[in-house]
Amino acid sequence: EQIKKGDFDHFMKKEIHEQPDSLTTSMRGRLKDGVVGLGGLKDHMRTIRRSRRIIFIGCGTSYHAALAARPIMEELTDIPVTMEIASDMLDRKALIFKEDTAVFVSQSGETADTLLALEYALQHGALCVGVTNTVGSTLARKTHCGVHINAGCEIGVASTKAYTCQIVVMVMMALAIGSDKMSTLAQREAIIAGLTKLPEKVHDVLKLDGEMKALAQSLIEEQSLLMFGRGNNYATALEGALKVKEVALMHSEGMLAGEMKHGPLALVDEYLPIIVIATHDDSFSKQQSVIQQLHARKGRLIVMCSEGDASLVCPDGRSRVIEVPRVVDCLQPIINIIPMQLLAYHLTVLRGYNVDQPRNLAKSVTTQ
Ligand code: G6P
Repeated sequence: EQIKKGDFDHFMKKEIHEQPDSLTTSMRGRLKDGVVGLGGLKDHMRTIRRSRRIIFIGCGTSYHAALAARPIMEELTDIPVTMEIASDMLDRKALIFKEDTAVFVSQSGETADTLLALEYALQHGALCVGVTNTVGSTLARKTHCGVHINAGCEIGVASTKAYTCQIVVMVMMALAIGSDKMSTLAQREAIIAGLTKLPEKVHDVLKLDGEMKALAQSLIEEQSLLMFGRGNNYATALEGALKVKEVALMHSEGMLAGEMKHGPLALVDEYLPIIVIATHDDSFSKQQSVIQQLHARKGRLIVMCSEGDASLVCPDGRSRVIEVPRVVDCLQPIINIIPMQLLAYHLTVLRGYNVDQPRNLAKSVTTQ
């Protein structure tokens, strides 16, 4: 086991640091001359483009990855995208039609709830697409078509590199499905250029390791942690909070910043730590106003912003600021989750818990 971990103490740490490489592998052979080629979807592209709706289905981290890719999928394809947590879809016997494209996202390809939702969608005649890390998995075999994320074997129970590779694959899917639209050509070119530079930017953000360890040190005694995000980074708030919950065994909630005034604001005081994701995209001014409202209630803030924006998000220097490299908006969730993964990792080690095998959890939940 130690040999497999290489220079790292834990698989989670190794997998966090592998992300520049796993993302490169995920994209390998799929971006040629400014065009995205996804062989696994080729024969079904016409059906996908004609579908009335795309439904993203998954559990846990895989669901969050789909949520992160949802805005760009809608923007580039002009097809409405809805989200389903697999168990809830089954509980509600959600409506699904043969004009739908159902995209199932699962690292293992063996999660029972996701596979049952797949059976259900197949019975209702939807086109079923798989996004998985596991070649030969049940998901890969039973879907009509799909894309492997090629993140490499992930051992830590808390998913890290699979999450970022899932997002990259779904962004590439959005580019491929939307590639017949001239109106988005410049935007698609900018995203492809961003994908090419992404591994290097991920490498840069990993340098925040020491800073995240220091932040973790300041939070080890806390009972609770909130994370506010919106737009492309709503998923980052949910996934960051899930990481902290799963491995550091600390209560943590990710929240939609737009909902703050409808309840969560009541929790704000000078003690409860709140991470606000406010990197520079078209939600930035709204997040600035969220920060002001939290400051007005003496909130204890940790703000994640784009490099060079510290004075914009925190003019009086009162909050702790985490500066991250800026990339195109739809790829920013990949950059932004990395400090949160590092924070969860360090919190866990400092609190003395098992990083790779958190209590009560399994890497793949194969029972209902
Ligand atoms: C379990 C794992 C999570 C994972 C979820 C979905 O709960 O502990 O880390 O996100 O299953 O797994 P999947 O293999 O379908 O992505």
